[in-house]
Amino acid sequence: MEIRLNGLEETKEFGIRLGNLLRKGDILCLNGDLGAGKTTLTKSIGLGLGVYDYITSPTFALINEYTGKIPVYHFDVYRLENVEELYDLGFDEYFYGKGVCIIEWAEKIERLLPKERIVLDIEKGKDIDERRINITGSGNRYTEITKELEKN
Ligand SMILES: Nc1ncnc2c1ncn2[C@@H]1O[C@H](COP(=O)(O)OP(=O)(O)OP(=O)(O)O)[C@@H](O)[C@H]1O
Ligand SMILES: [Mg+2]
Repeated sequence: MEIRLNGLEETKEFGIRLGNLLRKGDILCLNGDLGAGKTTLTKSIGLGLGVYDYITSPTFALINEYTGKIPVYHFDVYRLENVEELYDLGFDEYFYGKGVCIIEWAEKIERLLPKERIVLDIEKGKDIDERRINITGSGNRYTEITKELEKN
């Protein structure tokens, strides 16, 4: 499914709707070039999940944890040089943990990811603040979520 977002306000609305749908154990992957809008979208997804802290990019930390209705684990693996770093963090406790994982640059760690996941590829559009989001994934959760998103 493809969604077109015309401007930051639409990105925010979409992010909040998506955040509302997420549940414990969901793995949400965000791919797209530098500046595509992964962190911007994550902030709104966080709002939908009831995170009221200011979400910033965890580029150096690799992961930031927030408290919403459920825990939100925000990864950014752009600077990851070696998957060992993720093993050191105990990444699987996050992936199979009590909250939702949102992973920027997930394509870099594809082989570590659970098979069932929701993948959002963000691309810039023609206008400076237009974005296209391609949603794919596998598993029942992906199907459920895309169905819900298609409703309005
Ligand atoms: N519709 C839109 N949705 C998301 N971001 C937008 C939109 N329109 C403009 N922008 C701008 O694009 C930029 C996206 O930056 P952001 O840090 O979210 O990208 P990123 O994909 O996380 O980059 P990085 O790979 O460096 O982490 C922001 O400056 C944001 O304001
Ligand atoms: Mg980012």
